Amino acid sequence: MNDLEAIRTRIARRAYRGEMTEAELRQLQKVALEANLQYGMDMTLLEDDPDAFGGVTNSYGMFSGVRSLFVVAGWTNEPNLQERAGYAGERVVLEATKLGLGTCWVGGTYNRERVLASVQPGHTLVAVITVGHVKEAPGLLEKTVGRVGADKRKTTEEMMQADGTPPAWFTAGVEAATYAPSNEGRQPVRFAWKGGVATAAVPDDNELQRVELGIAKLHFEIAAAGRFAYGNGAAFTPAE
Ligand SMILES: Cc1cc2nc3c(=O)[nH]c(=O)nc-3n(C[C@H](O)[C@H](O)[C@H](O)COP(=O)(O)O)c2cc1C
Repeated sequence: MNDLEAIRTRIARRAYRGEMTEAELRQLQKVALEANLQYGMDMTLLEDDPDAFGGVTNSYGMFSGVRSLFVVAGWTNEPNLQERAGYAGERVVLEATKLGLGTCWVGGTYNRERVLASVQPGHTLVAVITVGHVKEAPGLLEKTVGRVGADKRKTTEEMMQADGTPPAWFTAGVEAATYAPSNEGRQPVRFAWKGGVATAAVPDDNELQRVELGIAKLHFEIAAAGRFAYGNGAAFTPAE
């Protein structure tokens, strides 16, 4: 499975079962380390702790069987912390998807005390990402919860604004971004094509939307080939 296939197959999974093997855990650690280096983050993998997620009943998602999660944290004084978290977290999500594992971003309620204990001084916790084995197809409860977002998935047209006809790589990038996970599936990120330049922006520019901006930009970059600068409304540079 390549990155684009992972983008298209991933859905948020909330019902986990069994334990991961040592080899899988090591692989996930490696993936987190690589994403940390690439995006200047300090994510860690909280391994096989059945209580890591305890008291999560009031999360909107109704999770079960969570034993492992990525703690998405980074330097508090990093100006693009949330956006970097989006990039790095989604990178590990896609790699876990390729390994056949289920994932779900969680920005809401969970056992924060437990998770915060693993965050270093001077670092800020941005979100967590559950990871583990799942049934191949989501069960009934999982499907019902999943529908919260799935029904609202935006179309390529809804997520873009273009002056004239944009190049094919731009449309391909936006299409990949329509698969980006977002809080309650709201997908606030919009891509613009104006004066021969592609940009990406979120309307409210709060911390959560900055995470969603990073996630959507990563999807766009994978399909369009190139890099965005950090920042709300920042421009994309296509690869040579
Ligand atoms: C930043 C962020 C925070 C999220 N927080 C939660 C959460 O607290 N609880 C939950 O069940 N799902 C959470 N999600 C998962 C979304 O609900 C899910 O991605 C969305 O409904 C779209 O569905 P999909 O991921 O299957 O495409 C979050 C996603 C993102 C990106």
